[in-house]
Order: sequence, then structure tokens, then C-alpha cells
Amino acid sequence: MTPAPIAVALDAPDLETAAQWAALVTPHVSTVKVGLELYLRYGPDVIASVRGASGVAVFLDLKLHDIPNTVAGASRAVARLRPSILTVHAAGGPAMIRAAVEAAPHTRIAAVTILTSLSESDLGRIGIAGPADDAVRRLSALSVEAGATALVCSPNEVSAVRAEVGDGITLITPGVRPKGTDAQDQMRVATPEQALADGADLLVIGRPITAAPDPGAAAAAIAASLRRAS
Ligand code: C5P
Repeated sequence: MTPAPIAVALDAPDLETAAQWAALVTPHVSTVKVGLELYLRYGPDVIASVRGASGVAVFLDLKLHDIPNTVAGASRAVARLRPSILTVHAAGGPAMIRAAVEAAPHTRIAAVTILTSLSESDLGRIGIAGPADDAVRRLSALSVEAGATALVCSPNEVSAVRAEVGDGITLITPGVRPKGTDAQDQMRVATPEQALADGADLLVIGRPITAAPDPGAAAAAIAASLRRAS
């Protein structure tokens, strides 16, 4: 059975837990996601630990944002770990995005458009005028022109972003909650089925899987419901 297009966010307190979650979910999902906290705490070894024997794809969510030369160096440093996806902030601009793309040719560079934690008033204060959706579309187009082949956006923006960039760009959406589960601190959520129907290619799902009594069973259940819906 093909694993479901889900990246399980391994937001674990320690490496052993992250590796254990990864082992439980990898029969059912395509990807596991390592974020800044785990990476900064344990360093590059975290990748081998979560990849384990399964060789599951690893999404390295470091959200790089610096001058192009520094981002090139950082991307080159982590490219050795062969992550399937590496994130950068679209707001770093086209030269920075291109620097990451060129420095990590075997990794898909995913540009993060606007953090979903920012309100419209926050955006105004940091100098991004107008509706968030406009900024998301503008940053999506700029990122793709600069060579990014993936974008991270909220499930609510995915259809507008798809219309902007067309097919062939991988759209990654967090804020995904299976029906009947708690939204927790996610403000704007969609079900996995809805996010895929709207054009997402990879769903980032954390706590609905990792906080379940049996993360393997939770991943299997979501994967099965996606197969039924497709
Ligand atoms: O547990 P949950 O499903 O909310 O986890 C979602 C994951 O996606 C977390 O690792 C979070 O940092 C990440 N993320 C997000 N919203 C964004 C970008 C990333 O929730 N806009």
C-alpha cells in the first residue's frame, strides 16, 4: 500500500520519543517532519534517528532566513543529510531562495509564505499592507520564480495558491485536523480530506497523531480515510 501523503510533525520533547513516533507511523505515512526545536537540541544526528531502518522521507523544517550567502552555506550543510524537503522563509527574497535551491540540488526547497500565527494587524506593523491572502499569493509567485518547488500555506489558502502557481508545485499544509479531533492552538483548520480536495499535496499533522494513545493506529486511520476519499 502506498503511504499516505502525510508529514507527521515529530514535535517531541526528546530524541527517543521522536524516533519511537517515527517508527510507529512510517508504515502508514510518506514523511516525518523534524522542526527547529529537535534539530537545535540534538543536531544532525536527529535525522538518522528518525529515519531509522525504514528510510522514510525527512522534512527538515528549519525555516531559514538570512542573506543568500549564509543560507547557501546552511543549506549545503544540511543537504548532506539528504532531507527530502527543507524550508526557507519566502520573505528572504528571490536571491536567498535561489541560493538554497542551488546549494541543495537533491532537496525540495519549500518556501514558507506568511506565518499563520500573524494577524492582519501584526502584518501591518511589520510593513505588509493589505490582506494576508494577497501577500501569500505574491510571495508564492516570487518563490516559484526563484526556483522553489514547494510552498507551505494554510489549508484556507491552498486553492488560491494553486490557482496562482499552477500544477507541479508541491503544496504543503499544516493546520490539518481530522473530523472530531481538537483544533488545539490551530486557528484555521481543515480536515485531511478537504485539504487534499482543495489542492494540497502533503498534509502536516502533529498532535492528532503523536498525542493519540497509539500513534501508529492514529496514522493508519487517517491514511485509510484518505484512501476512501480519493
Ligand atoms: O500538532 P499540529 O498538527 O498542530 O502540528 C503542526 C505542525 O506544523 C507543527 O510542527 C507546527 O510547527 C507546524 N506549522 C504550523 N503552522 C504553520 C507552519 C508550521 O502549524 N503555519
